[in-house]
Amino acid sequence: MGKLQFYIMADNHYFSKKLWVDGPAIERRCHGDQVVIKESPEVNEAFFKLIEQDSEADLVVIIGDLINCGERLCHDEFIERLHRLENSGKRVLVLTATHDYNGCGEDENGFVATGYAENSTYRVDCTRRHELDELYRPFGRGQADREYDMSYSINVGGYRFILLNDDGNGHTDCGLDDKGNEWLENELIKAKTNSETVLLFTHHPVITPYPVYEAVAPTEMYGRHPILKAMLMKHGVKVVFTGHVHTHAVRRITDGTNELYDVGTTAVVSPFGKIRRVTLDNGVADISTVDMPKEIDGVEGGSDHIAAVCFGRYYKHLVELAAKDYDSFLKLGDGLIPVDKAKKYRFIIKPILKIILSINMSFAGKVGRKYSGLSKAECKAHKDEKLLDMIFTIIDHFFIGDAPFTPDTYEHKVIYGALQRADAVMRTFKISLSKYINGIDSLWVLVEPLIHNTRTGCDREIKISLKDEVTYEKD
Ligand SMILES: [Fe+2]
Ligand SMILES: [Fe+2]
Repeated sequence: MGKLQFYIMADNHYFSKKLWVDGPAIERRCHGDQVVIKESPEVNEAFFKLIEQDSEADLVVIIGDLINCGERLCHDEFIERLHRLENSGKRVLVLTATHDYNGCGEDENGFVATGYAENSTYRVDCTRRHELDELYRPFGRGQADREYDMSYSINVGGYRFILLNDDGNGHTDCGLDDKGNEWLENELIKAKTNSETVLLFTHHPVITPYPVYEAVAPTEMYGRHPILKAMLMKHGVKVVFTGHVHTHAVRRITDGTNELYDVGTTAVVSPFGKIRRVTLDNGVADISTVDMPKEIDGVEGGSDHIAAVCFGRYYKHLVELAAKDYDSFLKLGDGLIPVDKAKKYRFIIKPILKIILSINMSFAGKVGRKYSGLSKAECKAHKDEKLLDMIFTIIDHFFIGDAPFTPDTYEHKVIYGALQRADAVMRTFKISLSKYINGIDSLWVLVEPLIHNTRTGCDREIKISLKDEVTYEKD
C-alpha cells in the first residue's frame, strides 16, 4: 500500500438557487438552522475549487446529507458538479443519508421537498430512497467490489474503503441489520486475509461526540453502534469517519487492548464549515482540517458573513435585539419564535432578556466560588465580560472543534464552580441525574467535554496508527 491522499466532506446540504426568491418565506426557513441554506451553493463551490486545486489528492469521499431535503433539482445540480469534479481528475465516492430523500410509509423521515416563493412555500419534485441508488451508483457503488443494500466495499490504491449506508428515518435505529453485519464482518476478514488496511465511513456518529448527545438523541447515533464498535475493535480497524452532528470532533475509545477513533467532520455549510484532508502513508493516517475560505465568490463578507448569520451568532444577535429594539427582534425571529406570543408577552420577555444580557462574568464567578477556589479579586477583574458572550463562544466551538476553555482559564473555573454547586444542591434534594441520563450523575461530568477538549486534546488534526496488532480466532 502506497501513499494515498484524499478529502472528506460531510453534510453538504446543497440547496438550489432556483428553489427560492428573496422574501420572508426563505428567511423563515433559514432562521436558526445549524447550516446556511441560501449560500450553500457558493460555500460548496468554494470547497470544491480548493479540492480541484490540490494536485496531490485525487479522491474525495462525501459522507451524506448531500442536499437540503430530498429536492430532485438539488440532486441533479449536485451530481452535475460531482461530474465536473471527476472531469478535473478526482475520483468521487459518495454515501447518501437521511436528508437526501423524501420518505413515505416505513421510510417516512419528515422531509418535504419545498420551494420558497416570496411569502409562501410550494412542493417541488422529490426523491424517493430507492432512486438514490441509481442516481449515485456512478460515484463509488458502480465500481465497488461488493455491496450490501446501499453500503459498499471498494479497493482504493490497495486500501479497503468500506462505506456504510445508515440513512435511517431519524425515528428508529439506522445502520446495518444482522445480515448486513455478517456482510461487514466477512469484508473485514477478507481484508485481513489480503493484508488490506481498512478505513470505514458512515454518516451517523459511531462514538458519541459528547455524553449528552447520545443520552438525548440515541436514534441520531449509528444504529446498534455497540455491535459495530466491538466488531471494528475485534478486527483491528482503527478509524471511522462520520458526519451528521455538524460538530468537528475527534473521539477515541478503547477496550483496554484495542482502540477506535471516530473522526467527525462538521458540515461543509455549518457556520464554521470545514472539510478534512487525510494522508495515508507508512501505516499512519495523518488527518488535518481545511477551513472554509475567507473569500467566497458570490458571498459578500465571505466566511465572516456565514458565521454571522448562521446559528450561534444569529441567536446572540436575536437576544441582543430583544433587549434593545423589540420590533427588529420580532422581524429577525420570524419563523423561529411564535411572533404573536412574543408580541403579547413583550412586557415579560424584554426585561428578562435585559437582565440575562447584563450578567457579567464577575457575578457568574461568585456563584461557585466555594468550589472553584476563585478569589474575590479574580472575580472582580472580569466585571466587564458578559456571561452570554462565554455561552455563545462555547456554542461556536461545537462547529469549530476544540472546546474553548482549558482548565487554567477563568471561564473554566467559573463553570466548574457553578456546576459543582448545582451538583451539591441536587444531592441535597436527592435528585438523580442518572435517572434521565444513563450512567451520568453529575452536571459537571455532562458539561465538561463542551468546555474543554477531554477527547483527544485536538479536534482539528490527529495522526492515527493504522497498524493492526490485533490477533483473533475466527468464530
Ligand atoms: Fe446534516
Ligand atoms: Fe444527517
